[in-house]
Amino acid sequence: MQTVTTVAAVRECVSAWRAAGRRIALVPTMGNLHAGHMSLLSAARSRADHVVASVFVNPLQFGPNEDFSRYPRSLAQDERLLAEAHCDVLFAPQVIQIYPEGDQPTRVHVRGLSETLCGQLRPGHFDGVATVVAKLFGIIGADVAVFGEKDYQQLLVIQRMTVDLALPIQIVGAPTVRAADGLALSSRNRYLTGEERSRAGAIYQALREAVEAIAAGDGDYRELERRGSAALARSGMRVDYFAVRDAADLAEPGSASAELAVLTAAWLGRSRLIDNLRVHRPRLRTQAAVVTDTVSDA
Ligand code: PAJ
Repeated sequence: MQTVTTVAAVRECVSAWRAAGRRIALVPTMGNLHAGHMSLLSAARSRADHVVASVFVNPLQFGPNEDFSRYPRSLAQDERLLAEAHCDVLFAPQVIQIYPEGDQPTRVHVRGLSETLCGQLRPGHFDGVATVVAKLFGIIGADVAVFGEKDYQQLLVIQRMTVDLALPIQIVGAPTVRAADGLALSSRNRYLTGEERSRAGAIYQALREAVEAIAAGDGDYRELERRGSAALARSGMRVDYFAVRDAADLAEPGSASAELAVLTAAWLGRSRLIDNLRVHRPRLRTQAAVVTDTVSDA
């Protein structure tokens, strides 16, 4: 594996592959890699001839009081893990390479999707994500990029940006990798103390209870949100939101919503943890089904 730190160097790596008609996959990350990230690498490998991973802690997506400076950085270990996973190129740029124009770059704002849930609580966060991802797409020119469903709102923002800006890249979502108790793997789990970590599985449990209730036909989403929030609060978390939304656009569920997402963000000590599960809404009985039932009952 080659590690490059400049835009010119990464472009040079991919240009020969592109000229030879090879398919290139990109896996953008902020480093401190774990098994969740590595699952994206294998998804990328299976869809392309060459894989580029980026490690860049993007200042633009952190708010003024967020954890940019203390975000865990472990480039040497990341490099080792990526090489073992047969990544071809690691792109690990300094901030100046990505934002040569300074701290007020042209930004991408995905309307609507960026303004709800995490976007409402972290103003500008998804603009920072969309901007850096658009830049990485422009720099690398990959055919496909893989993102985790763990950051479901981020995945939707990137999918929408790609469609709206007609970017010539395919976006693939990869399933969430979890610890044995269900906690979604995350670089931010490192901030948890041992005692906090032992309570963190409550997030997955609360999400599971909500999706199981929905799958069983419970349509009182407000009550499910209230119950989910209460369960997390009982485990000592401060809940930012616990929400049932349409999985396609994160709007409030309507009668046409076929798939729902239950999403949550909650603070456990100094860590803000996010997770989600999706569920197909059970089909309402149609009139024909009711008639058939009546006939068979007779
Ligand atoms: P980061 O948090 O490092 O995550 C990089 C990618 O790994 C994202 O697509 C994320 O959804 C995925 N991921 C993280 N934990 C996962 C898990 N447990 N299972 C499956 N996938 C997981 O997300 C970012 O970085 C940044 O916002 C980025 C997209 C790189 C833009 O800066």
